[in-house]
Amino acid sequence: MIKVLFVCLGNICRSPLAEAICKHKVSERGLSAHIEVDSAGTANYHIGADPDERSIEVAVKHGIPIAHKGRQFHFSDGEHFQYILAMDASNHRNIIHELADKHEGLYLMRDFDPKGKGMDVPDPYYGGKDGFEEVYQMLDRSIDAFLNYVVKEHKLDG
Ligand code: 4NP
Repeated sequence: MIKVLFVCLGNICRSPLAEAICKHKVSERGLSAHIEVDSAGTANYHIGADPDERSIEVAVKHGIPIAHKGRQFHFSDGEHFQYILAMDASNHRNIIHELADKHEGLYLMRDFDPKGKGMDVPDPYYGGKDGFEEVYQMLDRSIDAFLNYVVKEHKLDG
């Protein structure tokens, strides 16, 4: 099983949306037996919380089921997850700080974005609804490319 973890700050806006989009794509591509997906936040503000209403709204609008309870990133996630995808450079730094050893599968989410490689998925929390649609589009593109990479790398059929 290939285990993938999406990480942002609060684990209520970006990473649960990424988790939902990725699960949906994994299922559509018939990869559910091979790829497991989860999300976490580097902060402890929203442990146990449902995704932000605006993330739910944008997911529903695009026909993506979304359900997650906020949890905090833990250094043991470094051993469990083969791929850790940080939403922005700050999350990326915090993850490196938490992990004792170098993690070979730590990336920025937008390392996989054909339109803006290596850029941040901006934090939409203090902005309006438009920001959530913009985040959705970035995640949709980046996760397609990420799954293409995983399929190729692990010689999966999907
Ligand atoms: P997220 O967004 O990291 O995409 O879940 C945020 C959610 C909450 C806060 C910051 C960012 N907050 O400061 O509470």
